[in-house]
Amino acid sequence: MVKHTATSVVTIDRFIIEQERMHPAATGQLSDILYDVALAAKLITNKVRRAGLVDILGALDSENVQGEIQQKLDVFANETIVKAMDHGGRLCAMASEEEPELIPIPEQFRCGNYVLAFDPLDGSSNIDVNVPVGTIFSVLRKITRGVRGELEDVLQPGRRQVAAGYIIYGSSTMLVYTTGHGVHGFTLDPSIGEFLLSHPDIRIPTRGRYLSVNDSYEQHWDENVKALMRRYRGLDGQQKAMSVRYVGSLVADFHRNLLGGGVFAYPSNTQSPNGKLRLLYECNPLAFVVQQAGGSATNGVQDIMDLAPTELHQRSPLYIGSKDDIETAREFLSRKVA
Ligand code: AHG
Ligand code: MN
Ligand code: MN
Repeated sequence: MVKHTATSVVTIDRFIIEQERMHPAATGQLSDILYDVALAAKLITNKVRRAGLVDILGALDSENVQGEIQQKLDVFANETIVKAMDHGGRLCAMASEEEPELIPIPEQFRCGNYVLAFDPLDGSSNIDVNVPVGTIFSVLRKITRGVRGELEDVLQPGRRQVAAGYIIYGSSTMLVYTTGHGVHGFTLDPSIGEFLLSHPDIRIPTRGRYLSVNDSYEQHWDENVKALMRRYRGLDGQQKAMSVRYVGSLVADFHRNLLGGGVFAYPSNTQSPNGKLRLLYECNPLAFVVQQAGGSATNGVQDIMDLAPTELHQRSPLYIGSKDDIETAREFLSRKVA
């Protein structure tokens, strides 16, 4: 594979082709999916960048399947991705946080061998206050025999992902993805409308500086979680205190920790025993990315990517980030609860 440095001017299209050439048996379908994700990202970023100026801010009077008020940008991002991806002939079905059921490929379009699960807009609560938001995506190979995709094609463990990544609409728009050969980051140059390789081979530090957790739920955590957070904060004298950084957009917190080292934690609590984050299109894709960057992700007991999904929108507790810090989490959370 061609070794690029951060100064090489490499477009994402060229990078995708170079990665495809590493697999003589590749059909090009996965490459085409990644192109389409990059296109959808440009369309969404165009709206996000002008969110204060066009009628895209604010909430609708509709709720999604999660019972959350949908933001206009949630719906726009969802429709943009579905329309960018439904006719290319590479997918046989899609699953979105914003749609209760599996999204079939319209009858008039050919089906392909992959399924896409995605969170079209992550961090919705931050849209109106100009805090970074993101899109998260996961690609799986079809496993059922028919032409059209079925629920079983999406309900696969994260280990079976063939590609995963996210877009962060922050101070710049970045697309970060993996196909199992490392993690690579591309920054959108709006003057030419191209994603350019800016972060080749991202590696997460084995021990982190940052702790991302919403400790307003502390009263609802069990004793092991409380002890773990005391450890991360250096309150038990066993390690240096981690700086707490929590913006409320998983993609933004995850991205900062991926580059600088750290842990994002969304523990289970008595109010929501499975935490809040969704396994298929938030936990699994980011677990694949972090594992490929040298980190890890657990629900406290098992590796996230070993969990066998049973429902489209099922939730999972999530501890994700620097390898040694996640090892600490496993050690604390596997103890008998006091
Ligand atoms: P989404 O906007 O896609 O529903 O995701 C929001 C998630 C995630 O982005 C963030 O880390 C978490 O919700 C914040 O939850 P709390 O407000 O409960 O901390
Ligand atoms: Mn989300
Ligand atoms: Mn969302």
